[in-house]
Amino acid sequence: MKKILIIYAHPAQSRSVMNKALREAVEDMENVTVNDLYALYPDFIIDVKREQALCLEHDVIIFQHPFYWYSTPAILKEWQDLVLEHGWAYGSKGKTLEGKIFFQTITAGGDESTYQKKGFNQFDLCELTTPFQAMAKLCSLYWLPPYAILGIHRGVEEDRIRFFAEEYRRTLCALRDERLNLKAASKHQYLNKNLDKVIERPE
Ligand SMILES: Cc1cc2nc3c(=O)[nH]c(=O)nc-3n(C[C@H](O)[C@H](O)[C@H](O)COP(=O)(O)O)c2cc1C
Repeated sequence: MKKILIIYAHPAQSRSVMNKALREAVEDMENVTVNDLYALYPDFIIDVKREQALCLEHDVIIFQHPFYWYSTPAILKEWQDLVLEHGWAYGSKGKTLEGKIFFQTITAGGDESTYQKKGFNQFDLCELTTPFQAMAKLCSLYWLPPYAILGIHRGVEEDRIRFFAEEYRRTLCALRDERLNLKAASKHQYLNKNLDKVIERPE
């Protein structure tokens, strides 16, 4: 069984619909840890040793967050700046994270038609996350494409919320139980683009 760490960053948890639903769908799972950065560090003073120890204890690291200004909420940048130290996460002696799986779970207001070369946002969401792909490479992490939930505005229908929450749980169960074909998943634009093809031996 793989141990999964969700580094969760939502600055307005009480107003969240989608991230809250995704989180609630998985936080009771065995071998899943939800590490809520804004709840833990409201003053942005991150406990680097604690965060590094958590990373060390897990096999999968997920950054889960809403898409803010084509990137992450601010605390995740602070987390990267402080936790991913030279000699620990990267550099000739920094191999602590080597081989761990990394991906982002991103919710965004813009729908898929806007995240196209010719669409309103000019780039697809996977392209916009290339700094995280580069981060993964530098830290010798095994990068997977983002788990993307697009077109999330206020007033999103209950059945869509339930669907996305169930799909997220199904994915994390498969990943934890080593039933997710990593090679196949890494070829898709989004990790959740064709889940039936990447999840093996469904429960
Ligand atoms: C400060 C801020 C910046 C945002 N930037 C983007 C953005 O760059 N692209 C986008 O598609 N949506 C953007 N959004 C919309 C959020 O991504 C969307 O509301 C969120 O993913 C919904 O998830 P939640 O219900 O968990 O809050 C932004 C929202 C806020 C408040």
